[in-house]
Amino acid sequence: MTKRSALGDQRSAAAPSLAAELEERRRLVEDALGRALPPESAWPETIHRAVRYSLFAGGKRIRPLLVLAAGEAVGASRDDVMPLACAAEMIHTYSLVHDDLPAMDDDDLRRGKPTSHKVFGEAIAILAGDALLTRAFAVMADAPRDEDSVRLGRRLAATAILAEAAGTTGLIGGQVLDLEAEGRDVDGPTLERMHRAKTGALLGACVRGGAVLGGGEGADLERLGRYASAIGLAFQVVDDVLDETGAAHELGKTAGKDARAGKATYVSVHGLEESRRMARGLLGEAVAALAPLGARARLLEGLARMIVERRA
Ligand code: IPE
Ligand code: IPE
Ligand code: MG
Ligand code: MG
Ligand code: MG
Repeated sequence: MTKRSALGDQRSAAAPSLAAELEERRRLVEDALGRALPPESAWPETIHRAVRYSLFAGGKRIRPLLVLAAGEAVGASRDDVMPLACAAEMIHTYSLVHDDLPAMDDDDLRRGKPTSHKVFGEAIAILAGDALLTRAFAVMADAPRDEDSVRLGRRLAATAILAEAAGTTGLIGGQVLDLEAEGRDVDGPTLERMHRAKTGALLGACVRGGAVLGGGEGADLERLGRYASAIGLAFQVVDDVLDETGAAHELGKTAGKDARAGKATYVSVHGLEESRRMARGLLGEAVAALAPLGARARLLEGLARMIVERRA
């Protein structure tokens, strides 16, 4: 059965060869994540079970893939940028665990499974989020003993980019706006700011941080920054569209929730068709920003299309 994408068309999200390339990288990310955390058997077992439960529940891994693709665009090796790929996915997963808590969006389903607090209780879910956030920065700080000063400098710069994106002017600030906007009328600029902060900031940090960690410079960083800004916003616009048009069994999370909860979304403020048009426009901006990079940006372009044309 052909499913409809967020844009309402029937195209597949990625060409077969690109899909295979992404799948290969996804497997590398899974392995690296598996190594980056204590095993379930490590003391105290409960928290390590809870952390692994959410991290390995089956996320799409778009953020780590963006890190790897940005690294490749500036000629870095995968090993160079893998710490950021893992750290970003840990921070993203923490944000989902907390986003689903009863005090926030109060959701029962995530990545196709019961949410962390449903399985482990609220206290452990809060701590699992804390553990993922803390571990992310431990991974970034875990430099090889013989790392040279140039690489250490890049590592520090990428860590600062990640911290800013996760902080109060990024993800946390956006979540605050999201909660404060519940049940209220918000205007377009406020909504855009909220989406850029709660979701766009971390996605953007994956691209910009991946490029910096991988040794990118000058005009490349500027172009990748414009790409990052466009796909970061597009991601949440499409998330809002899918909440309205998708089904729980495809999304792996509750559908139709935003309208029921009175959330301020692109769909509630701009309507479905205008939101889709805006997402397409942002895809155009992202692709245009990459043009001067040529073949080096092939994966980034594929990921932008996937972000906008995805079904889940
Ligand atoms: C969902 O992100 C939460 C948002 C920031 C909108 P994803 O759609 O990337 O979720 P996973 O990682 O695949 O579960
Ligand atoms: C979540 O936005 C953003 C973060 C987790 C930072 P949503 O609340 O729309 O995400 P979903 O729809 O629950 O995945
Ligand atoms: Mg939310
Ligand atoms: Mg939510
Ligand atoms: Mg959503």
